[in-house]
Amino acid sequence: MNPVIEMSVNPTPRARTAPPVPAGRPRFYIETFGCQMNAADSEEMSRTLRRRGFIAADSPADADLFIINTCTVRQHAENRALSFLGRLRRWKDERPGRLLVVAGCVAERLKKELPSRFSHLDGVVGAKSMDRFDTLVEKLLLPAEGPARLPDPGRAQVTAHVTVMRGCNFSCSYCIVPSVRGRESHRPLKNILEEIREKTAEGTPEVLLLGQTVNSYRGDGPAGTADFADLLRAVQKIDAVRRIRYMSPHPFYVNDRFLAALAECDKVCPHIHLPLQSGSDRLLKRMRRNHTRADFLDRVRRLRRARPEILITTDLIAGFPGETDDDFNQTVSLVRESAVDGAFCFKYSPRPGTPAAEFPDDVPETVKEERHAELLKIVTAHSERGIASLVNTRQDILIEDVKSPGRDRTGRIVPVYEGRTRTCWKTFFTSSRNHRRGDIVPVQIAEAVGRNLWGDTRD
Ligand code: 5AD
Ligand code: SF4
Repeated sequence: MNPVIEMSVNPTPRARTAPPVPAGRPRFYIETFGCQMNAADSEEMSRTLRRRGFIAADSPADADLFIINTCTVRQHAENRALSFLGRLRRWKDERPGRLLVVAGCVAERLKKELPSRFSHLDGVVGAKSMDRFDTLVEKLLLPAEGPARLPDPGRAQVTAHVTVMRGCNFSCSYCIVPSVRGRESHRPLKNILEEIREKTAEGTPEVLLLGQTVNSYRGDGPAGTADFADLLRAVQKIDAVRRIRYMSPHPFYVNDRFLAALAECDKVCPHIHLPLQSGSDRLLKRMRRNHTRADFLDRVRRLRRARPEILITTDLIAGFPGETDDDFNQTVSLVRESAVDGAFCFKYSPRPGTPAAEFPDDVPETVKEERHAELLKIVTAHSERGIASLVNTRQDILIEDVKSPGRDRTGRIVPVYEGRTRTCWKTFFTSSRNHRRGDIVPVQIAEAVGRNLWGDTRD
């Protein structure tokens, strides 16, 4: 339950009387910072706005309504969002009647001070109030008569972002998420499956199941409580679904039931992003991670046993308070031993109100930077090794976009398609045949350039 109404309208006189939306269909533009949960919330806001007759603008210049969906997971992300918000004053001043709304985790954390800090802001909708976004639109954005509810021609989505649970019941000492997103709540299985059926029936082939700790899912199902394994099996059964991804699982819930479902469901892509944070048991304890170094290695081994082709990526934090050279070396050795295929590496950033913010932030910035750079170097080498192993293989590529024309092997001008392998590597390829977004096409991989693959369909 949310303790307060986190949704507010800027009380400054200028914004209280919402300026009318210009004639014709109003256009919205959403800039999304942060994680996949935010991407899902942005998609949900788009759907609400479309239902209300808005259409998507190609750029901010065309937009009547600008929503900035923010992330506060690290101070750097929050600063970026706030400076972006500050720069939007010009956008707002260019045309009277434009509306600016800030959404997401910064909106949640700073909801009280944002309206006075940014007088050009018209509305604030915190991460815990996403389900009331429609009410905000009603209250704030629509002119009295409201535009007609026309369907948006829109482009079919390649990936349906489907939130299955929200919030987090863990309390990692560095992490602000539990305070800005609240405790876990899980959607009933039936609602999730209905949303997936609806979205895939519109032609969307891929489903991304989202939750802060997605594999802790426990929702009401037809035979009592359904867990994440039941959910995967149920989504696998939907004919129109071609690929299933999920983000982000927690090592604590990588259990036998989950592993059995992974082994059984061939639509589930062989990629898992499994956050580790540190290889030192001492630090994992201070981080309150609920797993040890040995647990992580055990999960990695069992995942590879269940799906031998699986690609494993992770998150790592360098410079957590009290991190000694020995702690850091243990992270390095665990990255090597587990042979993870890639990682997002972060420098520790104290977040207000979290337990770790009370610890002295005692690793000097230069040391944090050195350790961060070293981790990056190691995980980049792992990624490059993994991606190089795909050269001269045939991979199924799900097309996400068609780029400007390039030349094929024989020198003909042909479209360049952009898509992803089942393990999520970005792939560019040429083909003399016509394909559309959402098609899955076998591609012969010819080379790896940086983190991208290049190939062609050889037809
Ligand atoms: N400092 C640095 N990295 C953090 N993360 C979360 N909070 C912090 C913080 N305070 C990282 C973790 C998490 C990812 C989403 O962001 O690695 O898995
Ligand atoms: Fe944050 Fe830990 Fe929850 Fe992940 S599991 S969202 S790092 S508290």
